[in-house]
Amino acid sequence: EEQALEAGFRQLVESESRIEPRDWMPDAYRATLIRQIAQHAHSEIIGMQPEGAWISRAPTLRRKAALLAKVQDEAGHGLYLYAAAETLGVDRAELTTKLIEGRQKYSSIFNYPTPTFADVGVIGWLVDGAAICNQVPLCRTSYGPYARAMIRICKEESFHQRQGYELLMTMMGGTTRQRAAVQDAVDRWWWPSLMMFGPPEGSSPNTARSMAWRIKRHTNDELRQRFVDMTVPQANRLGVRLPDPELRWNPDREAHDFGTPDWDELYRVVRGDGPCNAERIAHRRQAHEAGTWVREAATVHAAKRAAGTAR
Ligand code: ACO
Repeated sequence: EEQALEAGFRQLVESESRIEPRDWMPDAYRATLIRQIAQHAHSEIIGMQPEGAWISRAPTLRRKAALLAKVQDEAGHGLYLYAAAETLGVDRAELTTKLIEGRQKYSSIFNYPTPTFADVGVIGWLVDGAAICNQVPLCRTSYGPYARAMIRICKEESFHQRQGYELLMTMMGGTTRQRAAVQDAVDRWWWPSLMMFGPPEGSSPNTARSMAWRIKRHTNDELRQRFVDMTVPQANRLGVRLPDPELRWNPDREAHDFGTPDWDELYRVVRGDGPCNAERIAHRRQAHEAGTWVREAATVHAAKRAAGTAR
């Protein structure tokens, strides 16, 4: 019987139908989705911190309003994704516990500091640009609730990317110091942005199986290449230099050649040894503990409503 179920599942996946929560699925497919969606959700929530630090210091009311909206969007993305993970039978509280105990990962990129306001622009341009490259194909991922969550997330990410690029355009038209701040931020974020796509072919243990299940639609290297090709003309228009001496157009491949990211750095940061890992987790833990009374009050209120005694 198991074999018939497995064959039915494969047939659904291969015919580009979506797998829905009540459908039969192999245990390993479920576990892979929980792993990826939970990591993705945690990344959205931890990702509120590097830019959130600039909300109270934004230079104008307009910049503050845009940044506030953006950081709120990240919270929303985390919520859609935790909800998608819950359709697979896990509990959101349990996922949060795993995050703050360091038992589940989140994206390496959010462990780098944001010392200047140019970092806000560069995160929008490069980090959200990389997120879009990685996430647009996930709108066609085989698990229905994840695919549907990604559609809305991608629309919002493209707003984030544009606000970052527009901010940088403004700074590049400003003073010498402002232009230098943008270049410095690009120098610091370029390589970590390429690392967001994950380890290269041969060092990415999950890719082959996730692609066979159509959870992932492209390899990490394919998406990294797409990101480089998309970003180079934008850098030229902006007037910034990308910090890679090997970066050049290759007419034979009709794509850019580029240097190799420092994979040891990626592994160090993923292991917990990046510049801001401890700070990010400590902050998340503190926010979670400070929210205890809200969760308790909401639970009591829900029980009263269910019993018809809420006022
Ligand atoms: N940061 C942290 N961990 C990473 C990173 C990274 N940049 N890249 C890879 N890893 C982890 C993987 O999660 C995996 O760990 P695990 O097996 O313990 O779970 C391990 O390194 C090996 O990598 P892969 O075999 O390539 O793993 P996978 O097939 O899951 O591919 C990828 C990694 C591309 C990140 C994939 O999970 C994905 O597309 N996730 C959804 C997008 C996402 O999470 N984006 C978050 C950042 S964008 C944003 O939030 C704005």
